[in-house]
Amino acid sequence: MVELAKLLVHRHSTLVISLVIITSPSTATAAVTRYADSLAAAATPRVSLLRLRGEDDPSLPAGNAAVSMIESQRTRVREALLEFTPTARLAGFVLDMFCTSMLDVAEELGVPSYLFFPSGAAFLGFTFHIQTLHDEESHDEEGFDVTELKEAELACPGLTRPVPSKVIPSGFLNKEWVALVYTITRNFRKTKGILVNTVRELESYALESLSRGKNIPKVYPVGPILNLKGEKSRREDDETIEWLDQQPESSVVFLCFGSMGAFRGEQVREIASALEGSGHRFLWSLRRPGEGGPWASPTDYEDVREVLPEGFLDRTAEVGRVMGWVPQAAVLAHKSIGGFVSHCGWNSTLESVWFGVPMATWPMYAEQQFNAFLLVEELEIATEVRMDYRSESEEVVSAEELERGIRSLMEDCSRKGRMKGFSDLVRGALTDGGSSSSSIAEFIGDVSNNDL
Ligand SMILES: *[C@@H]1O[C@H](CO)[C@@H](O)[C@H](O)[C@H]1NC(C)=O
Repeated sequence: MVELAKLLVHRHSTLVISLVIITSPSTATAAVTRYADSLAAAATPRVSLLRLRGEDDPSLPAGNAAVSMIESQRTRVREALLEFTPTARLAGFVLDMFCTSMLDVAEELGVPSYLFFPSGAAFLGFTFHIQTLHDEESHDEEGFDVTELKEAELACPGLTRPVPSKVIPSGFLNKEWVALVYTITRNFRKTKGILVNTVRELESYALESLSRGKNIPKVYPVGPILNLKGEKSRREDDETIEWLDQQPESSVVFLCFGSMGAFRGEQVREIASALEGSGHRFLWSLRRPGEGGPWASPTDYEDVREVLPEGFLDRTAEVGRVMGWVPQAAVLAHKSIGGFVSHCGWNSTLESVWFGVPMATWPMYAEQQFNAFLLVEELEIATEVRMDYRSESEEVVSAEELERGIRSLMEDCSRKGRMKGFSDLVRGALTDGGSSSSSIAEFIGDVSNNDL
C-alpha cells in the first residue's frame, strides 16, 4: 500500500493520500509497530498516515477475527477521514483485500472504492472463477465444493491450461477459510476497479480474460510494485556482496524462502546434500522456524553448524555461503546469480523477473503453489522442484529431487532467455509511456473524475 501510494503521488502533482492503518493488540507486533513508526517518520507531505487501534475478539477464528476487527472500525474510519481531510476533496478509497467492509463507508461518503490486489492477475481470475462456480452451483444437489474437488484438474478462464487441483491454495481447501474467500471475493465485485500488482506484458492472457469476465470490475495492472532499496545493509550483507563479486557470472544458485520460510533437522540435511551433489556454487538463506505456532516469524540460527551435516561448511567453503536473513533484492541484482530456488511469493517472483533470474519452485503457503504452476507451466520461466509442496504437511523434499531441480535450473538455459525477455518488458512498464504508467495515469484520471 505504501509503495503504491508513493507511485501514485509520483505520477500526479497534487494528489494527496491518507493511509489508514488499523492494528489490534494481536496484530501490532513489535515489527509492525516499528515499521509503521518508520513510515510515519518518512511520510511525505502528500502521503500521511492515520493509525487506528482496534480490539481483538478471541471468540472468532483467525481469519474472520482480523476481518471483523477491521469491520468494527468503520465508524471511526469515517469520522477520522472527515477530520483528516477537511480541505481536500475526497476522491475515493483504495482498499486492501481484507478491508472490503469499508465499501459501506465509501458509499456513505459518496465516493467509489477500488481494490488493491497484491498478487497476480491469474490468481485474481482464479479466485473469481472459484467463487462463481460456488455461487452458481451451490443450489444444485451436487453443488461445486472446492474443498472436496474430485477432479484432478480444473479449467480456468485466465489460464491456457487446466489448474491441477494439487496447486490449489490451502485457504481454498479449508471450509472456514473458503467461506471468507467467497465473502471478500463477492465484495471485490462491488468495487469500481482493481489495481493489480502485475504487468500487462507478463500476464496479458489473464488480464484479457479478466477484462471479458462477467461482473468483474475494470482491472488496472500497475506493477511491479517493489521495494528494491530494502533495509540499510549490515556488515554481513556487505561481505555477502563481496563474496558474490568474486564468483563467475551466472554461476551461483541462490536459495531463499521468504519471510516465513524456515527449515530444521532432516530437511536442512537434504538441502545440504543436494547442494553438495549438484556441484554448483550457492548462496543459501537458512532460517530457523519460529517458536510458538506455525505463524511465528522465523529467526536466524545462532550457529548454522548446529543443523548442518558435519563438515559441510568446510567442504563447501570455496563454493558456497550459508546465511540467515539476506538482502534478497541486492543478491538477485548481482550478475553472479544464475538461478533462484524460491518459495514463489509474489514479491519474490516479481523481483526475480525484474532481475531476469530464472527460478526453481518450492512453494510453502498462501497462493504460492498456484504461483509455482503459473511460473512453470504458463510462463515457462521456472523449473520445478515442487509445485505442490505445502509447509503445513511437514513433508521432507529429498536431496535427489532438489538436486535434479538445481541442475535443471543451472544447466538448462532455455528458460533464461524467456526470463530475460520478461525482465526487459517489466522494467519498461513503469517508465514514462510504459503500460503500468499508463494504467496508473488512467486510474488517477478515473478516480479524480468520479461521480458515484
Ligand atoms: C512485499 O513487498 C512490499 C514492498 O513493496 C512489502 O511492504 C511487503 O511487506 C512485502 N510482502 C511480503 C509478504 O513480504
